Amino acid sequence: MRLISRLAFAAFVSTALTFAAGTSASAQEKQITLGFSQVGAESAWRTANTVSVKSAAKDAGINLKFSDAQQKQENQIRAIRSFIAQKVNVIAFSPVVESGWEPVLNEAKAAHIPVILTDRAVDVKDTSLYVTMIGSDFLEEGRRAGRWLEERYKNEPGPINIAELQGTVGSAPANDRHAGLMEVVKKDPKFKIIASQSGDFTLAGGKQVMEAFAKSYGKQINVVYAHNDDMALGAIQAMEEAGIKPGKDVTVVSFDATKGGFEAMIAGKINVDVECSPLLGPQLMSAVKDVVAGKQVPKRIVTNETVFPMNVAAQTLPSRKY
Ligand code: AHR
Repeated sequence: MRLISRLAFAAFVSTALTFAAGTSASAQEKQITLGFSQVGAESAWRTANTVSVKSAAKDAGINLKFSDAQQKQENQIRAIRSFIAQKVNVIAFSPVVESGWEPVLNEAKAAHIPVILTDRAVDVKDTSLYVTMIGSDFLEEGRRAGRWLEERYKNEPGPINIAELQGTVGSAPANDRHAGLMEVVKKDPKFKIIASQSGDFTLAGGKQVMEAFAKSYGKQINVVYAHNDDMALGAIQAMEEAGIKPGKDVTVVSFDATKGGFEAMIAGKINVDVECSPLLGPQLMSAVKDVVAGKQVPKRIVTNETVFPMNVAAQTLPSRKY
């Protein structure tokens, strides 16, 4: 009897060991490799986005190959081609600009590597070239800013002269934040865009463009419409150096709602900040897992966002995560 139970125990241990070895081998086989091409490090938003993607990949046990394109499309194309050559399981990228992606996306398709877009969209006819697009609705963000301006100036006859600091030329947020604003303000002829130039989403760019605007238009400017907080902060510096009080002499509208933007609102220098969340990492990793598992994912995953006028900044800042 004792012999029988010993034999049974030995058989059990050997089965358990075989099973454990098999599981760890298949778990290893199944580790997902994700190639991610980031736009660059142009803004506080972008830094927070990179941190979110890297930490979510770690939490999800995904092997991340990260590449920084330094705001150049050719670098992103090179990175995507290298991910294809490395046979990663999934490619994700945040496209610097909207156009010019068909050839490389077709190469990914031919290699059977699914592509996920995050943050920014691409302009392609064949939408089967990507699985899903995860990120903000930039057009709606522009409309939100436009509606806030409509309300702010509803009792003023105008003209209301707007100087626009655009993001990177050809990028989805620059195109859509401009279009969203226009959609709203074009209904009222008192709103006029008197100047519009790209500051490339950087603080230095925003400052430089605002210096030129201040020289050319000075006190004619009623509103600075900056496509992100970094450019707004640069513009604030330029206005102060030119003897203009941002937030008082000039209404400052910005996007992202970073901690820097909130601090400027608390200081009375940004009047409203339209939220754009960079915390896309967890949603991206869960989409990556679903795609690898062959599950259906929605074609568009839109981030929930709001608008922060300066009067809520002090109470809201402690809960901001970026
Ligand atoms: O694509 C998102 C935009 O890019 C953010 O508004 C900006 O700050 C970033 O550089």
